[in-house]
Amino acid sequence: VKLWAVLPAAGVGKRMGSKIPKQYLELSGRTVIEHTLKLFVDHDRISGVVVALGPEDGYWGSTSYAAHPKVLRAAGGAERCHSVLNALLALEGRAEDADWVLVHDAARPCLRLEDLERLIDSLLDDAVGGLLGVPVRDTMKRANGGERIDATVDRSALWHAYTPQMFRLGLLRHALQDALAASDLVTDDASAIERLGQAPRLIEGHADNIKITRAEDLPLAHFHLRQQGR
Ligand code: C5P
Repeated sequence: VKLWAVLPAAGVGKRMGSKIPKQYLELSGRTVIEHTLKLFVDHDRISGVVVALGPEDGYWGSTSYAAHPKVLRAAGGAERCHSVLNALLALEGRAEDADWVLVHDAARPCLRLEDLERLIDSLLDDAVGGLLGVPVRDTMKRANGGERIDATVDRSALWHAYTPQMFRLGLLRHALQDALAASDLVTDDASAIERLGQAPRLIEGHADNIKITRAEDLPLAHFHLRQQGR
C-alpha cells in the first residue's frame, strides 16, 4: 500500500485582495505552494504528489517543482471538491484503490512535519481514515440567520477541520463522485465520506496549520514558519 498526496491549488483566492493567487505569494523566501509542496515531495513515505491547478494558472511553471519527477499536475475544477476528484482521477494507472491519499490545501504551508507523521501513523490501520483537527476553544453561537443568537452550541464536541485529510483512494473517489452526482458541493473530503455514513477519525494537530485566506494571514504564516525554524 502506497501513500500519495493531493494538493488542491486551483482557487482564485478572492478574499486575499491580490492579483496573484494566494498560493503564489511570497512567504519567507519561497512561494506559499513551494513551502507546502516541500513537505510532501521530500517525504520518503509519499510516492507522488498531484497538484490541481486552475485553467488560467500562469504561475506554476516558474515554481521550483514544475518539472519535479515526483509531481504530477491535474486540472482544477469549479470548486475544491472538483479539483480533488480530478487529481484522484489523474492517479489512475499509477495508484491502487487501496492506497492512501493525503489531501492537503496548498494554502496551508505551516503544516508541521510531526503532525503529518502522527496523522499517517495513527490512520494506516484505520478502517475509514481521518483528518487533522483542533478542538474549538471559543464559546460557539448559532445565529438565527441574521445577527441574533439562536443558541449556544456545546463546544466540547466541536473541532476545526484542517488538512491533511487521509482516505483510501477508492473510497474517496467514490465518495466525491457520489456527492457531486447529488450536487452536494462538499467543502472538505471528510464531508464526502460522512455522507456515506462513515465516521472519519479526528487527529489533534497544531493550530498554526492555518489556511491563508486573507492578507493578514501572510505575516501570521511567516511568524509560524519562523517559530518552526523553516
Ligand atoms: O478557497 P479555499 O481557501 O477554501 O480553498 C482551499 C484550497 O482548495 C486552496 O488550496 C485552493 O487553491 C483549493 N481550491 C481548488 N479548486 C477550487 C477552489 C479551491 O483547488 N475550485
